[in-house]
Amino acid sequence: MGKAFCEFFAGIGLVREALEASGWSCTYANDVDPKKRQLYVGRFGDDGHFHLGDVWGTAEVASRISGLPALATASFPCVDLSLAGRGRGFEGSHSSTFFGFVRAMEALGGRRPPLVLLENVAGFLTSAGGRDFEAAARALAGLGYRLDAFTLDAAMFVPQSRPRVFVVGVDDRADPPGVVPRSPSGWMVDAWAERLETADRRVRPKRLVELMRSIDLPTGWLAFDVPAPTGRPPGVATAIDRDDAQDWWDEAAVAKHRAMMHDRHRERVDAMVAAGETFVGTIYRRKRDGTTRAEVRFDGVAGCLRTPRGGSARQIVVVAEAGRLRMRWMSPREYARLQGAPDFPLTGNTVQDLFGFGDAVCVPVVQWIDRHVLTPAAASIARRTPRGRQPDARPAPADDAGGEREEHVA
Ligand SMILES: C[S@@+](CC[C@H](N)C(=O)[O-])C[C@H]1O[C@@H](n2cnc3c(N)ncnc32)[C@H](O)[C@@H]1O
Repeated sequence: MGKAFCEFFAGIGLVREALEASGWSCTYANDVDPKKRQLYVGRFGDDGHFHLGDVWGTAEVASRISGLPALATASFPCVDLSLAGRGRGFEGSHSSTFFGFVRAMEALGGRRPPLVLLENVAGFLTSAGGRDFEAAARALAGLGYRLDAFTLDAAMFVPQSRPRVFVVGVDDRADPPGVVPRSPSGWMVDAWAERLETADRRVRPKRLVELMRSIDLPTGWLAFDVPAPTGRPPGVATAIDRDDAQDWWDEAAVAKHRAMMHDRHRERVDAMVAAGETFVGTIYRRKRDGTTRAEVRFDGVAGCLRTPRGGSARQIVVVAEAGRLRMRWMSPREYARLQGAPDFPLTGNTVQDLFGFGDAVCVPVVQWIDRHVLTPAAASIARRTPRGRQPDARPAPADDAGGEREEHVA
């Protein structure tokens, strides 16, 4: 069957990087940032389908989407949902672009994809006391999607802590195997609730399960069988270059950051240097009680990559080796490795590259979702389609502008 997809808020294209590996083909990508587009095109070439423009330009967005895509993905801006956004949530102009995506889906009418995938930060679950998550869920349900939601942390796959919330929408053209729907209220047995309650808490955290249970959707909730990965990801040392060609800081900058460490962090680092042990870690500078601290991670996992807005958001590499202590800014190539895209072409403009990767999705996380959710759902659409025919577009409601019937793009 067709595995064509549209990538909204495409950034540098790491959703595409993840999905193409299993046969998905991207037929439309949208982002407003020309610098992200440059990275995207550097990786995938300029095949003309990257629409550089505002997602709120609904008519243009809808007109540029050809055929009938099977999936639309939207990793919409997180700034208003994360700590950095001062809690504006969907009141903020960045994260509310989600509704630009909803409007574009609406405008597609009968050509609306049967599957959607949202991605955002953990703050999506707490923003406005859960009301923003509920608003997003209701908007998708209003388009006819039954929903599931779960969390995955990139640290399950790569040495980077990056917890994220995912919402999957499936309309009635898809019938994925092993998925359980929520039972109507009052039923004695609810396999949906049982699956959520018994799942690994890293995938179905209590806060999310409570939210889902509290929101009564007109279309209903589903639960895919999304397992937590069991493998152990490699340590952060595997992503960090230790050769002398790197841009290591001079002694004064190292001493300054050593002095900024918490006492117990400094003692631990000093002890490893004195013992000639090898240690590779990362540091974030954070303001604590008015003082800037250099906080060292000793757990073999890098902190969450962020865009380098302000000095504190860029991660620092710290290496103790053969009695020497070295430090430097983490490089764009290391950012790319920590996002699971080790060979992604860079522009050579450090700030542009760090912005691109700091905002991006982690490739193996999306691949996990693809394996357990997206590809099985897409296959179910193909199974419901008689041999030799493409799946029909859903009949467009009378007021849908773009409601002509078209075929899935393979
Ligand atoms: C979280 S990032 C998505 C990153 C992307 N998934 C990747 O892997 O690179 C959000 C993206 O939304 C884009 N964006 C923000 N406002 C937008 C708008 N009004 N229209 C289209 N894109 C927008 C930003 O430029 C940014 O690249």
